[in-house]
Amino acid sequence: MRMNVRVRVVSKRPVAVDVVELTLSAVDESELPSWSAGAHIEVDLPGGVQRQYSLCGPAGDRDTYRIAVLRTPASRGGSRAVHEELAVDDVVTVSAPRNRFALESAPSYVFFAGGIGVTPLVPMAERCHQQSETWEFHYGGRTLERMAYASDLKDRYGERNVTLYPESETGFINIAAILKTAAPSALVYVCGPQPFIEAVRSEARAQGRGGQVRAELFTAEASLDAAGEREFDVHLVRSGITLRVAPDRSVLESIVAAGIDVERDCEVGICGTCITGVIEGCIDHRDHVLDDQQCQSGTSMTICVSRSLGDSLVLDL
Ligand code: FES
Repeated sequence: MRMNVRVRVVSKRPVAVDVVELTLSAVDESELPSWSAGAHIEVDLPGGVQRQYSLCGPAGDRDTYRIAVLRTPASRGGSRAVHEELAVDDVVTVSAPRNRFALESAPSYVFFAGGIGVTPLVPMAERCHQQSETWEFHYGGRTLERMAYASDLKDRYGERNVTLYPESETGFINIAAILKTAAPSALVYVCGPQPFIEAVRSEARAQGRGGQVRAELFTAEASLDAAGEREFDVHLVRSGITLRVAPDRSVLESIVAAGIDVERDCEVGICGTCITGVIEGCIDHRDHVLDDQQCQSGTSMTICVSRSLGDSLVLDL
């Protein structure tokens, strides 16, 4: 069950073109629930809209939560409400932080940020800095003016750790070259749009590092049904077919309906019988079988309950 916290907007400021940062503190001035780098909160916005945003303030800060929100042209209410309606002193309800993108222990780290996907990685950089970890941070965006926290990161951590890639000046991040020079056991954290995550995943796989990638998708406000589910495509590599998974159907149901026999048992995500290899795509894990490491590796899913965070999945079926 969701634990709710009433918070007040104590500051609202632009941090890039089309990006505003909100700082929130508890209405009763108590300490906020604890959190760690990579965590997000769900915010109940004006108009009955709920949205999840990564916490991007100093990791573990319990006096305030900080979020940064990109204005998306196709907004169905979330980013528009934050940009146009929420004001300083307004009170909103948020969930306690949850973390599906936690920083695991590793000898070194490579961070890839794409656009507003920088937000969960900002506290990770600070944690690495404070703990004297070995790390490098590669951050791309369309222009420097559109890249939230770009100069803060560069100023605080220096050129040795942070490289910025405004596409208008430098072109795209050279993912292959960066991974080639990274330590063999480095963990790779990536957050941004799906094509960016896929590019990192696929290059990591090509270099034999597929299991070292931890990814979080920044989702634009895609079309969801009334229950908040999206439809997406599933491409079955061995069968050579592509299926559309409707919002009210599971991946398993869609595959079985197409006449493909799949091993299954509980169909509620507890037995593990239907675990299937994932070749591409960002998984929305919803089962009680896979552990955190298996979930974060993004290489398998329970197709009876888990879904896609992006527009498509490619399965080893
Ligand atoms: S059939 Fe049991 S986890 Fe999917």
